[in-house]
Amino acid sequence: MTLAAPFAKKISRRIFLQSLMQAPLALFLAGCAGIGGGESGPRAPGLGAQARRQNRIYGAAVQSWQLKDAQFAAALKREAAMLVPENELKWDAVHPAPGRFDFRGYRRLAGFAHANGMAMRGHCLVWHRSNPVWLKAALVRASRGEAEKIMEQHIRRVLHETAPMIRQWDVVNEAFDPQSERADGWRETLWLRALGPGYVPLAYRLAHEADPDLILVYNDYGLAYSDRGGHRKRQLVLRFLERCMRDNVPLHALGLQSHLDPSRPLAGDEFTGFLEQVRGMGYAVLVTELDLNLARLPGPMAGNITPAQHYVRVYLDMLQKTGAIDTLLTWGLSDRYTWLREYWPHIEGALPLDRNLNRAALWETLRAGWLG
Ligand code: G3I
Repeated sequence: MTLAAPFAKKISRRIFLQSLMQAPLALFLAGCAGIGGGESGPRAPGLGAQARRQNRIYGAAVQSWQLKDAQFAAALKREAAMLVPENELKWDAVHPAPGRFDFRGYRRLAGFAHANGMAMRGHCLVWHRSNPVWLKAALVRASRGEAEKIMEQHIRRVLHETAPMIRQWDVVNEAFDPQSERADGWRETLWLRALGPGYVPLAYRLAHEADPDLILVYNDYGLAYSDRGGHRKRQLVLRFLERCMRDNVPLHALGLQSHLDPSRPLAGDEFTGFLEQVRGMGYAVLVTELDLNLARLPGPMAGNITPAQHYVRVYLDMLQKTGAIDTLLTWGLSDRYTWLREYWPHIEGALPLDRNLNRAALWETLRAGWLG
């Protein structure tokens, strides 16, 4: 995996992989216990152990309260080699009032990850959602200088707290809106209103100044579809990455959220061409939030689980056509705890484990399609 050219000299592939592979040798040896190319079945090593065998990393998003579910915590230990806090590092969780920080949720997750030899990644420093009321009010009346100071204080404090455990961050999340009226496609957010489009490079420069060895990621969704939204978003993100390269913005990788909606056709060559251009500029590519939303398909979900695996395989094949995917995370580990349940309470087939924590169809599809 090559890093964005201007910064590759600072962060070698070795450091990049080290930043991901903090699990101890034990996990590595556990993974090596089996045969190469991955193993199936309920007693096979977990996805994390099997990925580690290929110098890759599999992880999952988790919320600290879910760790109280002992069965789930055991499944997490068995399957994941990396954790990403689903919500515990967002502004509303860590910065509830001006100058006041609260890392208790993050620290619970970091304690669990450290105790179990797991790596972590950070999500997310600047986003249009999950912002505390005080921030929205402050940015409405802040001068440009004041708004920059607010962002700087947040980024420096959060990176200081998480530095020992987290070496890779989604700095800016979902900054483009293909439905935007704006010609430049920037999403109308509190940060855009306060600072203009410059808020994005500013966030990366502040993160890089605070900790020059961090891997800095731009994270977004909906980049693989053939419809108008997918086409426009690929254009917007590509132009953005080109500008970052030109302006020497410290940005190293593109995070493809990969919340798959199997009712939307995939873009095939246009998507692989997009990935080729992204990688050609020296950016790494990783999968940050994969899950599968069968509620989008007609008919009973149970009947769609098997056919939808073909859709996931096609997506994985497209991803890997232009280069390796060293890091893949799912947005949750089990249907028992997926954000999708908030909107579709009976969702199933969304994640590698079913609600009973058994390995489901997506587990096998990831093993065969990514690790096979
Ligand atoms: O913690 C509060 C709780 O105190 C309160 O009683 C409750 C009811 O209002 O809300 C709780 O906060 C919720 C939080 O999840 C923790 O459960 C928020 O309302 C809810 O909006 C938040 O949803 C999260 C969402 O991002 C917004 O932050 C989802 O769990 C999370 O899965 C989702 O994840 C996003 C990624 O960050 C970015 N990519 C898309 C992905 C899915 O939307």
